[in-house]
Amino acid sequence: MTASQRKKLIEVALPLDEINAACKADKDRKTGTIRNLHKWFAPMPLPAWRALLFAALVDDPEDDEQRARLLDVIKRLVVNGADLPDEETLREARGLIAAQFPSGVPTVMDPFCGGGSTLIEAQRLGLTSYGSDINPVPALISRTISEVLPAVHGAQPLHPEVSGVGRELQADLGLGLTQRASTGYEGLTRDVLHYGDIVKEGARRRLASIYPAQDGEELVAWTWARTAHCPNPACGAETILTSSWWLSRKKGELAWIEWDVTGRDISLRVVSNSANGEAPPSPKIGDGVFACLVCNATLDSKYLRSQGMQERLGYRMTGVITTQNVKGKKVRVYRTANPDDVAAALVERDPGESSIPIDPKGQGIRVGGYGMQEWADLYTPRQRLAMRTFADEVARVHGQVIEDGGTAEYAAAVSSLLALGLGKMAQYGSTQAMIATFTTSSTFFNSAFGRSDVPITWDFFEQYFFGEVGGAWSQLLKTAVRAFRLLPGTATGRVALADARTSSPGTGVLVATDPPYFDAIGYADLSDYFYEWHRGALKDILPDLFQTAATPKSGELTALPGKHGGNKTAAKNYFINGFTETFQNLQRVSAPDLPLIVVYASKEQGGRDEQSRWASILTAMIDADLEITGTWPIHGTSSTRKRGMESNAVATYVVMICRPRPKSAKATSLTDFNRALRRELPRAVHDFQAAGILPVDLAQAAMGPGMQAYSRYSAVQDQEGHAVGVEQALRLINAALSEVLDEQQGELDPYSRFAVAWWEKHEWGIAAFGEADQLARPQGISVDDLIRAGVAHYPRPGNVQVLGAGDLDRAWLPSVDMQATAWEAVHHLADRLIDGGGVVEAGRLLGRLGDLRDAAQALVYRLHEIAVVKGRIKDQERYNALIGSWSDLLAISATEKEGLF
Ligand SMILES: C[S@@+](CC[C@H](N)C(=O)[O-])C[C@H]1O[C@@H](n2cnc3c(N)ncnc32)[C@H](O)[C@@H]1O
Repeated sequence: MTASQRKKLIEVALPLDEINAACKADKDRKTGTIRNLHKWFAPMPLPAWRALLFAALVDDPEDDEQRARLLDVIKRLVVNGADLPDEETLREARGLIAAQFPSGVPTVMDPFCGGGSTLIEAQRLGLTSYGSDINPVPALISRTISEVLPAVHGAQPLHPEVSGVGRELQADLGLGLTQRASTGYEGLTRDVLHYGDIVKEGARRRLASIYPAQDGEELVAWTWARTAHCPNPACGAETILTSSWWLSRKKGELAWIEWDVTGRDISLRVVSNSANGEAPPSPKIGDGVFACLVCNATLDSKYLRSQGMQERLGYRMTGVITTQNVKGKKVRVYRTANPDDVAAALVERDPGESSIPIDPKGQGIRVGGYGMQEWADLYTPRQRLAMRTFADEVARVHGQVIEDGGTAEYAAAVSSLLALGLGKMAQYGSTQAMIATFTTSSTFFNSAFGRSDVPITWDFFEQYFFGEVGGAWSQLLKTAVRAFRLLPGTATGRVALADARTSSPGTGVLVATDPPYFDAIGYADLSDYFYEWHRGALKDILPDLFQTAATPKSGELTALPGKHGGNKTAAKNYFINGFTETFQNLQRVSAPDLPLIVVYASKEQGGRDEQSRWASILTAMIDADLEITGTWPIHGTSSTRKRGMESNAVATYVVMICRPRPKSAKATSLTDFNRALRRELPRAVHDFQAAGILPVDLAQAAMGPGMQAYSRYSAVQDQEGHAVGVEQALRLINAALSEVLDEQQGELDPYSRFAVAWWEKHEWGIAAFGEADQLARPQGISVDDLIRAGVAHYPRPGNVQVLGAGDLDRAWLPSVDMQATAWEAVHHLADRLIDGGGVVEAGRLLGRLGDLRDAAQALVYRLHEIAVVKGRIKDQERYNALIGSWSDLLAISATEKEGLF
């Protein structure tokens, strides 16, 4: 960045705790989110973009008080978690942005726009949005929400009466009950439900004969399991490959499948609504390995794969899920499948139907190994027929809307939403959908893509689409329209199908994006699952998105070795070159005074692969002459407030802020780079710690200032004049970080210094007195001093052990300890937080630490670092949990001081 450029707030400060909490709430929210409109992979939580965009647009005021005021605006923008901020705060934020750009606010561009989270939040802040994606599926989703829907915001419904939606649901959906004019998306909601009903009734008429129900029951779903012939020549039975016989584990409503063998035939019987009993053990004996129910022979995964390749895997109906009226109450009843149920399900597959081929080497696609070659193979014939019938009916809707007097824009909005509904339906409509049973709740209907992959499923459910439960059509539409409340309404946006290397909305934009994360997700391969349904309904309405028979596979900026003949290096180079070109393009369209915001997802902690993922994106940035002016770790999924096992997860996203490197930037030597690191890192680390960044995130956070030092030079050269690459720079940054933490250790009291060194070597174990004596003397203390200070004890004569794990005195307070130490403070805090009293007790103690507080905080980071290096997972989690709760503890300690306890 040039000296004359003003820093943006995002380059100086962010209220991370509040942003993290809001992201967590957003991710935890299951209904009423834009994700309910359609599945897309790796969505960013909306509050994160709201905060980041605001902070990227307003200048840092270079004044603590004024900065605090801006940070407070951000806190209020995200304070409601998954819900929207109040109108007043939004107005204030929009006003501040407008004041920052007197000659017009910039357009926000996301060239990897995916499901459109950036675009929605840009619009919410009063900005025009431009999104592009190389893949038609996300382009459709984001175009629908940011371009197609705003164009019909406020439109009156063609069919104000919504059939099938009771008063209660109308109120729930925000639909006015009176005859007044519709506002917002009320009209559209009514019409989507209206045309959705027409689709359903049309499909019902055509499919009635294949869905027989018994008197008095409402169908919900059928359960199925795959079958294979036993390889034992003496047996050969068609055995059932299920991973569980349970249908419901809910207390008091237990249901399961019993099986019996007569000769080589297996019969099934469902037990339902039982107060006790349990399902038989499943025949699954390993991952993709089963025992034959008849002779107990093993069907291993190699055998099952080869059976699949020969099209010899079958499936069998194992039960029927219904709801029935029992004593005036609707209850779920599981019953045995009868011959009529089975016969009706066995429709013929249309031999003329062509479907999109599956790439068996596609990332996360594991069904290819079992002989599934086309996406149609993922459906039973009846599932497929149902999907195709609904798709036919949706395709008619556009014409109907026009006939009913709707404009082309309005018809496109209704059709796009119903086509997205088809995509949602497909998630419940294939053999990828599985039930999940719980002891505390009714059985769940899980749709495809719980993870970003297509695994082989051994048992699955078949949804009855005309009902009201799980993935039934009407249910999906009602859930989808609930998301409208999160859309900004009147707004201007455009979404194009374009490659980020060349995408351009003009110039002077703010680029904010969340690009693909190296090799994590094969977007193009997975998206064909949805594409065939979208295309069928919309190819004449949105022709630019649906020109090709399948989603375009070339150009995707991922590093998938499968796309490069299995060559990892070629995949990595493709990724780096593609991103270098992309970042060059993005600099051309960016406003000169605005940074580029790149959010990069982060998966695991450490490891060579992770280093290489990070080095790849950073290398592209450096090669494209970008300077990194900051990084922020954001927890999108696991709350910073979680304790125990999950508390050690690394940040889900790292936000990188970049600026074009000034042309005047010079090369520097390795020595000078190292010097710069040692000069700049301690301050930055101190600030991160003060901001409560989790120890587990510290290495990634330190990458920011480290890369800042690296990227401001045109090159860093070693003694032979060779350029030092990003991977080496990352290693140097890590080394410098360790030194900073070491130095912080040097500032500790001598007792704690001893304890750290001892613990590093012996963990919580016992070692000889002589060794302890040798280690204590250089600190100017004796072993007896350590014992008196309560830092160590003699577990048996001649041996020493540091204290901190296990029984600690919960009455300990520094004020009553003659020699209180940072070591004790840390371990008493962790003990109270995790093992006794929780945040309240730990917060009270923090409030009484006085001068020890900062030293204790720095010590936790140091101990966490040692635990990582030594692979001490349990300790890592404890220290991480302590920092994760630090702000809660501070809040409690402040209340304590105010005398409220
Ligand atoms: C991590 S996702 C974006 C998620 C998005 N931020 C959201 O909240 O839904 C990355 C996106 O990059 C897209 N993509 C991959 N290669 C691309 C390219 N060369 N040009 C444009 N988009 C691309 C993928 O299709 C995918 O939608």
